[in-house]
Amino acid sequence: MSAASDRPFVFINVAATADGKIDTYRRGGATISSARDKQRVDRLRAESDAVMVGGRTLHDEDPDLTVKSASLREERQQKGLAANPLKVGVATRLLLSLGGRFMSAGPAKAMLFTTSQTPEQQLETIRAAGAEVHVLGDQRVDLHRAFVILKKAGVERLMVEGGATLNFEILRLGLVDEVTIFMAPRIFGGESSPTLAGGAGLEAEAAVRLDLLDCERWEDGGVLLRYRVQRRD
Ligand SMILES: NC(=O)c1ccc[n+]([C@@H]2O[C@H](COP(=O)([O-])OP(=O)(O)OC[C@H]3O[C@@H](n4cnc5c(N)ncnc54)[C@H](OP(=O)(O)O)[C@@H]3O)[C@@H](O)[C@H]2O)c1
Repeated sequence: MSAASDRPFVFINVAATADGKIDTYRRGGATISSARDKQRVDRLRAESDAVMVGGRTLHDEDPDLTVKSASLREERQQKGLAANPLKVGVATRLLLSLGGRFMSAGPAKAMLFTTSQTPEQQLETIRAAGAEVHVLGDQRVDLHRAFVILKKAGVERLMVEGGATLNFEILRLGLVDEVTIFMAPRIFGGESSPTLAGGAGLEAEAAVRLDLLDCERWEDGGVLLRYRVQRRD
């Protein structure tokens, strides 16, 4: 990505099992990260301007997406930043509960990208609760436009925390710079268990190609992998 890019630097972070699953077949948000990995993820959030999730993760798990460590929040504030990064959600049809963690945990600003399938009343309710909402498309959210809007809002570094469908879509569209995977020493199996990238899939010749930047072996049995996504142009 060039310095003059019209989108932020984008990285995906996932916790996966050794068989590449990011949840069990129950899709209830199973814990995969070790204690050390949770601290690493907290730091990644603290170092990001915004943290994004896809619609199913948003609605089913209602993540708070805040920085858990008080000292990391203080570090941000000492740099003149908000205590927490901007929370970002992408959903075809928003069904958010205003009292839920995504909307209420903070203090943090929230930005949502949706389509014209979200009823006007719901848009108004969410806006009245303080979130910025952008309607970008009729069937699916136009993610190129969403990323341009984020950049214009001052987001230089965007952390994407899944799930599988959103990850695949932004990889397919060439909108990702790096992928970080904490691989836990366990196997979930399950044909329907989500993996790092879901969606319709790609032909082998169209694979998203990666360069390995770092590989760490941890004492908790996990492996941390950091890849750069090869540019297609
Ligand atoms: N281990 C980890 O690191 C990790 C992290 C996050 C999530 N997860 C797991 O991932 C699973 C959820 O993943 P998922 O694949 O089911 O859903 P997802 O990626 O969280 O959300 C996908 C949804 O995003 C919305 N969307 C709208 N426009 C889109 C676009 N252009 N591209 C992509 N998505 C768009 C759609 O919302 P609508 O539904 O409104 O149509 C779509 O269904 C859960 O099991 C969760 O636990 C694991």
